[in-house]
Amino acid sequence: MGSSVTSTLLTGIAELTTHADSGGLADSTVADAAMVVVDGRVAWTGPGAGAPDADERVELGGRAVIPGFVDSHAHLVFAGDRAQEFAARMTGAPYSAGGIRTTVAATRGASDDVLRSNLRRLVGEMLRQGTTTVECKSGYGLTVEDEARALRLAREQVEAVTYLGAHVVPAEYKDRAGEYVDLVKGPMLDACAPYADFADVFCERGAFDEEQTREILTAARAKGLDLRLHANQLGNGPGVQLAVEFGAASADHCTFLDDKDIDALAGSQTIATLLPGVEFSTRSPYPDARRLLDAGATVAIATDCNPGSCYTNSMPFCIAVAVRDMHMSPAEALWAATVGGAKALRRDDVGHLGVGARADFAVLDAPSYLHLAYRPGVPLVHRVWKNGTPVAG
Ligand code: NIG
Ligand code: FE
Repeated sequence: MGSSVTSTLLTGIAELTTHADSGGLADSTVADAAMVVVDGRVAWTGPGAGAPDADERVELGGRAVIPGFVDSHAHLVFAGDRAQEFAARMTGAPYSAGGIRTTVAATRGASDDVLRSNLRRLVGEMLRQGTTTVECKSGYGLTVEDEARALRLAREQVEAVTYLGAHVVPAEYKDRAGEYVDLVKGPMLDACAPYADFADVFCERGAFDEEQTREILTAARAKGLDLRLHANQLGNGPGVQLAVEFGAASADHCTFLDDKDIDALAGSQTIATLLPGVEFSTRSPYPDARRLLDAGATVAIATDCNPGSCYTNSMPFCIAVAVRDMHMSPAEALWAATVGGAKALRRDDVGHLGVGARADFAVLDAPSYLHLAYRPGVPLVHRVWKNGTPVAG
């Protein structure tokens, strides 16, 4: 170890969840623990009594430590909000894909600075709630320039960026969906691919059908992008099967699944990403997390933060809902919000605190991670560390 490298020993950890063995759930917590961080990475974890010496010491006073959340699904480049649409929904109106066009109009009319500062506000809120890795999609521009702009702005502030030109057919292409698909898989893809890690399609009634989704996924894959899919959100459909067939990193929503979909996910590397905030905010039935888990599918939880279907960016809130209403155990929910999210982004350096992982973690004002679901709505995140440095709280 070079002399310029500083090691930090964190002591007084009432309960440390490492997920070091990412298969284990309850097994991965250590009581009365300590952790050593060197050069932004986890260098050692274990019982406090056996902790090695370090250059610096930080006493955490009996708090729990968990890996930073990995929010693998969010739409954060937009302007305006749709609070009125939410209010109408709460008094009986249904959610439909068409609401996206309202945000498209507001986003196209906004300056780079407005979009940038909205994104900064949202990412800051996420960090303060324990989220240290964020994925962000385009999808509210829907012109070549506006989609490329959204991805460029997202790239400035988040780690994983997804091209979602196929969010909805914009108003000016009404009755010309085929032409819009040609744009999405042609010139728009060319302009966006340099800024993106993934491509995504909203494969749903009212958005893009199976054939259109296939065309777009095929073109994006040929351009070298990894794939993810908005699948089976508003009803049964081909999305999940397509995600598995194309080897997508993740099939997101998974609200309406039949037996074939569950089997396909369970037999694949595609992560089933559940977005409990959406069902909460659209008053929809929750996805059957238990069936997915019991069948052996790998499940992630993400927020889907967006101005339409779900305007929360709180992973602790989503964990509480997943536990209370989707019958995930607290251990399963925490794993899904950390390791699960990392897997959905094809990352193995975040979402856990095994030796060598990035030292991204949240210190909770609570003796155990169980309090995340046990005390819903309470701001339990005391401090957040990213790359081995305290960044919020
Ligand atoms: O994931 N499903 C598509 N996109 C978003 C909703 C976007 C919106 O309503 O503005 C979602 O729920
Ligand atoms: Fe989404």
